[in-house]
Amino acid sequence: MTRRPQAGTATSTRSNPPERLRTLAQVYRHFGEVDAAATSPLYARVAVGLSESDAALRAIEAAPARKRHPTVILAALHDLALAGRAPALAAAYAAADGEAAAGAAIETLLRMTEAVVAIAVRRPARTGETGRCAVLYPAVAEAARRLGANAIGLIDVGCSAGLNLNVDRVGVTYGNGRSLGDPSSPVQLSSSVVGDRPIPARALPEVVARVGIDLYPLDVTDPDDARWLRACLAPDQPERVARLEAEMALAATAPPLLLRGDAVEVLPDALARVPADALPVVTTTWALPRFPLESRLRMLHRLDEAAVGRPVAWVSAEGVGVAPAIPTLGDRRASGHSIIGLAVFERSALRAEAVGRCWSRGRWLAWLADS
Ligand SMILES: C[S@@+](CC[C@H](N)C(=O)[O-])C[C@H]1O[C@@H](n2cnc3c(N)ncnc32)[C@H](O)[C@@H]1O
Repeated sequence: MTRRPQAGTATSTRSNPPERLRTLAQVYRHFGEVDAAATSPLYARVAVGLSESDAALRAIEAAPARKRHPTVILAALHDLALAGRAPALAAAYAAADGEAAAGAAIETLLRMTEAVVAIAVRRPARTGETGRCAVLYPAVAEAARRLGANAIGLIDVGCSAGLNLNVDRVGVTYGNGRSLGDPSSPVQLSSSVVGDRPIPARALPEVVARVGIDLYPLDVTDPDDARWLRACLAPDQPERVARLEAEMALAATAPPLLLRGDAVEVLPDALARVPADALPVVTTTWALPRFPLESRLRMLHRLDEAAVGRPVAWVSAEGVGVAPAIPTLGDRRASGHSIIGLAVFERSALRAEAVGRCWSRGRWLAWLADS
């Protein structure tokens, strides 16, 4: 059912909204005043606007409970704007006009409730974050060094759009002046270095296979998928938007093989796609919290099984204690930073090490390993 905007619904008209609506309003207000405040003035204003409209909150309630979060609903609205289906909202976003965007978001939500809910239900929200390669590059190169590999096959688990699979095709500059990767790549990333230990200067060997695994992989060459990736970013974050565009364009020049399915089930197939003379390097970046602990352990078991026939490496960038077998260095769980893990499976023996710490998904990086 498509709902039409009612007079007076775009502003606070509540007399005594039910408890559950008040809770939803608080979630949106908190998102606007705290989460989005520092990063997106537009989303801050829109979220607060939605929190003040009972009609908008009721429309959001048409979505299943786990799909009512502001990141999901704002991305769904943004998707409609980018698709040309919500022109007033698109115009307000283009003008970076928070007041107009809040009004247009409410109007769109009421007019197109069904469409917003359908997108929210169909599409898992993405972080939209890119740039993980600043963390991955030195760790994957270290994996290749330790196993003496002259060629590697990358397998990214929980790959989303598979942007990590271009780790060898980007350029990275570290705060200490060191650069890795391709200085002429259209994708240039940067990371500040924490601590005294230098980031290893070793280049990656040739990448001969790129395989992504996800329950819901996104194909950057598919216009709907590409639009959804864009929709998951706030419209007033030009640097992030530009970086995503560059990374998508780079990925589109040599799209990876995307395997849809549960990682534990699909991993053997992915490993089989890596030529015998290349080292399979499995990567996970901030993906494992979505996996039940049992699945994480089964994934480890799969890698162990594969290592009967050939060495396999696993590079992880995950919160403290999230990646099984990777040391936590005594750091507290949920302390805000992440551990860069390197696990080497060779003849069914596992050597797992924490080779670094990183903050803000790799914007700061401390290298720890001897290399
Ligand atoms: C938080 S996202 C991380 C995406 C990306 N690696 C990054 O650095 O932003 C987690 C991803 O894991 C995928 N995922 C969750 N459970 C999975 C499973 N059992 N098998 C494969 N992928 C899964 C989700 O679909 C999602 O794309």
